[in-house]
This record gives sequence, structure tokens and C-alpha cells, in this order.
Amino acid sequence: MSKRFYVTTAIDYVNGEPHVGHAYEKVIADVIARARRSLGAEAFFLTGLDEHGQKIQQTALSKGKSPQEYCDELAITWKSFAARLGLSNDDFVRTTEPRHKQAVQAILSRLHTAGYFYKDTYRGFYSTKEETFLTDKDRLPDGSFPASYGEVTELFEDNYYFKLKDQQAWLIDYIEKNPGFISPDHRRNEMLGFLKNNTLEDLCITRPADRLQWGIPVPFDTNFVTYVWFDALVNYVSIPAAHGDPVVASALGSQPSTSNPQPSLWPADIHVIGKDILKFHAVYWPIMLKAMGLPLPKQILVHGWWQKNGEKLSKTTGNIVDPIAVIDEWGLDAFRFYVVRELAIGPDGNWTDEGFEMRYESELAKKLGNLLNRSLSMLNRYRTGITPVRSDELAPAAAKIVAETRALLEQNELQAALQSIWSLVNHANKYIDDTAPFKLAKDPAHAKRLDEVLYNLVEICRILAVLLWPFLPGTAEKMYRQLGLNNSPDQFAASAWGGMPPGQKIGDVTPLFPIKEKPKV
Ligand code: MSP
Repeated sequence: MSKRFYVTTAIDYVNGEPHVGHAYEKVIADVIARARRSLGAEAFFLTGLDEHGQKIQQTALSKGKSPQEYCDELAITWKSFAARLGLSNDDFVRTTEPRHKQAVQAILSRLHTAGYFYKDTYRGFYSTKEETFLTDKDRLPDGSFPASYGEVTELFEDNYYFKLKDQQAWLIDYIEKNPGFISPDHRRNEMLGFLKNNTLEDLCITRPADRLQWGIPVPFDTNFVTYVWFDALVNYVSIPAAHGDPVVASALGSQPSTSNPQPSLWPADIHVIGKDILKFHAVYWPIMLKAMGLPLPKQILVHGWWQKNGEKLSKTTGNIVDPIAVIDEWGLDAFRFYVVRELAIGPDGNWTDEGFEMRYESELAKKLGNLLNRSLSMLNRYRTGITPVRSDELAPAAAKIVAETRALLEQNELQAALQSIWSLVNHANKYIDDTAPFKLAKDPAHAKRLDEVLYNLVEICRILAVLLWPFLPGTAEKMYRQLGLNNSPDQFAASAWGGMPPGQKIGDVTPLFPIKEKPKV
């Protein structure tokens, strides 16, 4: 049975405010999914929402709503956020959906029967804000708990625990033997350091139902609901199960659909996540999967965090970037371009409005936009908008950059891939300066040379559209329409030289990225 390429994002807390950090992660995953599809793979892209937990329960009740009503309202905003980002996700999971809850319960039952859990009494401190138990290690030198934990309460309660003590050795071994499992390398080293220098505490996987009702009921003991992280991580397999994934179905003890057998999704090829939730994905999730008898994801790809003007994003201080406002003002592709071009996957990034405007004006409007505009305007002026006979002068330069971009896309080096693509943009702009078609046009003796130059320019523009499609799908489509092509630039194979048919009448020419007039001071 064949396997589809499967890429996921973290599922956002439904009661959070969608910001540039969420948007960045989803855009990266979208570019990866589109790039794989363009390269010929069948790719499945999953994103969604994490909807259970005490905070949701409390806020919903304070607003006089049921938690489900409250989540349903918030989910509308998040779904439209995904649409505004141009995401090509194949499904959108909500952890309150029956298809997800069933999978969580099936897993809990199986692991319970297999003896992975035990019940014990906990006495200690709990942060509702972070939905986590605290130990003395979490205290500040003065004995108090950091403000980030919010109100900390003392608890004395029964819960179920997942035995983790025997799991540490194989996990260390696995991470060491599979260098690509956690990327980038410094995150892998961070996890290895953590695992080698600490003894894993058993994981509390329930919360008592008398304290928290807004969770998935534990199937073998209805006095408890499932801990949100155990619930949330399962989304990566509950949705494949719902799509008839045979690998997951057999681990869950359900019947894979025989009437409509699906190529498998699991194991995920890439989980895209932020640095703050690495431990959940690189420690707890692999241990849960191994217990279920499922293979581990091929890669956990960890991105850094965005700040604005060198400061943490914060709604309270007003230091925020509202992706929707940026998209409304500058267009979706300008937003997608800036976040991917500005920040490689790994380090932290810093949003500045000046940096955004600079990249818009210089890289999008002046370099890419003008290249297309100049090339097509000259074709209109000198050749009535009809593509001349084929010429291969820039074919070797294009082939080199196409190969380089392909390799970078295959390694998910998205920022470097954009740099590579812009080296072709620069090459073509320089070609215009060097060949000076506007001078050639003045002398009919140079007609053949002018034909060559114009063909090379439109063909480079066409190839650029193909290379750009995973990043800037709307712009790439517009470029194709302006070139007079009716199909989509969504197949990487079309980056081979010579796709622009001679005799082709080009379409209407309009600026891709209009320069904004700056208010005069
Ligand atoms: N619900 C959990 C994830 C469960 S995954 C099984 C969660 N949600 S979150 O809404 O807090 O964060 C979602 C993602 O956004 C995480 O990967 C997180 O790292 C990312 N980001 C949140 N703030 C961010 C920035 N300022 N910058 C970049 N990404 C950030 O954690």
C-alpha cells in the first residue's frame, strides 16, 4: 500500500488570539505541502484546533455559554484565519469532534488494558493557566511560583499516570540513531541533553471530572477526563484513522475501510511545531506511539518564535502583528513572502514594519514585479504581445537554479529556496540591462537578437512562476495569466526550459505588487 506525504502543524488553542506566530507555522507547513505536491507527491496537510481544558470551561461559563457553544463560535474565526492565509489543508481537526474523541478513547482503552497506566494520589501544586502540575523545581529562589503560571492552587487528588520510567533509554537511543528525527540539530541536542540529565516523571494523563468536565471522558473510569496534551497529540493519528488509514486503524483495533482502501498517512513525514512544545512532541508523543505499536513520525521540525521590534508579542502591551490587517493592506502573498523569506526554520525572528515594507518594495515590487512587467511590456511594444521563436540562451542558468531550488525544497530549506529563486530574478534583470532590448528595438538589423532576448525573458518569468507557486500561489497564477497561459504553474516539472509556446499571445499586463505611495512628510 502506498504512503501519502503527511505534514501537520500544532493545533492552536481555540481561545487564543490568532497572531503572526500561528500564521507563520501554518504558512511554513502549507509551503511544504504545496512543494511536495508540486514535486509529484500525494501530500496531506492537517491543521486544526485544541479545544478542551479548564480555561475554556471557565471562560465559557463566565460568558453564560456552554463550552461547546463557545468553541463553535471561536472555531469560525480560526477557520476563516486558515482560509485567509491561503492554506491548502486537506482537513481541519477540532478536538471536540466525535471522530477525534473516539480515537482518544480507543487509545486510552488499549493502553490501559496493556498495563501502561496506574492510579495514584497526587498532592502538590497546580497551575490552571498552564494546566500543569508544579514541583519545587518550578519555584523561584524566594519560594514563589513564576507569574507565568498564573494562580497556583494546592491539590490533593487521584489520577491515572502513564509509566515513563522504562522508556527513557530506548528514546535516547532512537534520537541518537535517527539524526533527522528532530530538526534543526540544536533542538535535537537540547532534547538529548534533557533526556540524559533528568529522570522522566510519570505523566499524569487524567483530570478528575469533578474539577474539569470539559475533556474527553476516560473510557475505563468516568470519574476522570483526559489530560489536554494526551488528547491534543492524538489528533495526528485520529484524523488519519477517520480517513481510513490502515496503519492507524489496526493499532486502534478498528476495521480499515475495505470498500475504499486509502493509502496510508501514518507515520507523519513532518510535524511542524514551535520550540516551546518540543518536549511534548519529542518525548511524550513518541512514547505514546510506541505503546500503541505505531511507528514514530519521520521528523519533528521546530521553528523559532516571532517577536516584534525586538520585544515579545503581547496583546496587553499592544506589541502585536495582526496578519489579517497586513494581508488586507499588502496582500496575502506579500505576507507569506515576508515571513518565509525573513526567518529560516529554527531561530527566533523579529518582525519590523520597516523590514516588511523594504522587502515588499525591493524584492517583490522592484525585482520580481518589474521583471515581469518590463518583459511583457516590451513584448507588447515590440512584438504585438506574441512570443517569438524559442531561444535557449538562459536555459543553463535556469537549469542550475531549478536544480538548486528543488534540492532546497526537498530539504524544507524554504528561506534558502526563496534566495535561490531570487538569484534567477536578479540574473534576468541583469540580462535586460546587459542586452538592452530597448536599444535593439531601434534597429531592424537586430530583430533576430531582440526575438531571442524577449523569448528568454518570458520563459524565465514562466519558470519563476512555477518555482514560486508553493510560496506565492496567487502571484504564480497571476504570472501565468499575464503570460497568456491557462493552466496552473503547480507542477515543478514545468520548470524545464522551453514551456512557453512560440506564437503565444500574452494576457493583460498589470503590476504584481503595486508600489504604495508614501504619505509626504
Ligand atoms: N495547543 C497547543 C499545541 C498542541 S499540538 C498537539 C499549543 N497551542 S498554541 O496556540 O499555544 O500554539 C500553537 C503553535 O503556535 C505552537 O507551535 C507555538 O509554538 C506557536 N507559536 C505561538 N506563539 C508563537 C510566536 N510568537 N512565534 C512563533 N510561533 C509561536 O501550544
